[in-house]
Amino acid sequence: MNVNSILTMTGLGKEGVESLLRDAFLFQNRYTDWQTGSQRAPVANLFFENSTRTHYSFAFAEMALGLQRADIDAARSSVTKGESLYDTCKTLESIGYSLLVIRSPEDCYYKQLENLSIPVINAGDGKGDHPTQCLLDLYTMLEHFHHLDGLKVCIVGDIEHSRVAKSNFDTLRLFGAEVFFSGPEEFRREGFPFVDFDKAIEVSDVVMLLRIQRERLSLPMTLTDAEYHRLFGLTKERYARMKENSIIMHPAPVNRGIEIDSDLVESPRSVIFRQMHNGVFVRKACIKKALGFSSFPSDSFPWRF
Ligand code: CP
Repeated sequence: MNVNSILTMTGLGKEGVESLLRDAFLFQNRYTDWQTGSQRAPVANLFFENSTRTHYSFAFAEMALGLQRADIDAARSSVTKGESLYDTCKTLESIGYSLLVIRSPEDCYYKQLENLSIPVINAGDGKGDHPTQCLLDLYTMLEHFHHLDGLKVCIVGDIEHSRVAKSNFDTLRLFGAEVFFSGPEEFRREGFPFVDFDKAIEVSDVVMLLRIQRERLSLPMTLTDAEYHRLFGLTKERYARMKENSIIMHPAPVNRGIEIDSDLVESPRSVIFRQMHNGVFVRKACIKKALGFSSFPSDSFPWRF
């Protein structure tokens, strides 16, 4: 596998994460017009699972970096004729693409791609990892709190099927944050510490809500949507008990009225749309690294790791 690939948060390590977050900050504040140069070969975006935020913020970042791109229509690709993911990716490499951005419903799909020469950025693999979502989550927390150490982060919802929960659990603890989970019994995940949401809401700096990943459920959720909202949703009553200076996060897409009261999606504590905005800077940083560029000089990073 190309060494510049970005596949998992643990693979990046603490220093790799810090370097990408510094570059994201500098993309936002100093190198706003930085481009890769006109001679770069195009990037291919392959999404075998639906996406709005990840796909189109990668596309936006690629355009801003001056890169040509192809959005491969997975439903019309030769994968539907039985071609393996590896052969599809090897084909794109042979055609001349310089980088693949891939989302797949399959956990660790990238293990099949070890013989590729070009880098891969993982845009989400099953319930495995979602590195660029985790990076933009960390970035948004840093933007608000200016540090990660000591933060109490409560992640609520379908933890079992969530790559966002896993990537954040793996990474936030490296930076000294305390991470705990809440949600229905049926969506618990081994090794993940669960707490009472009604107690956690009063002490958490970050309340991160997750969608029920219905596309990954083998059986329907046993709770009705209304029961879920009453037990694990961010209601106005729970919102009123949140800690001072705390924030609401959600990777989205949001199911308004289920994991969060619709009126709270754009409430003062919500940084949900800020996360999406920050995703572009983070993805620019990831593309730059994957294409082999070194980090920007980082003399002016204002936040503490
Ligand atoms: N948060 C996230 O990955 O959203 P999309 O599925 O729309 O990309």
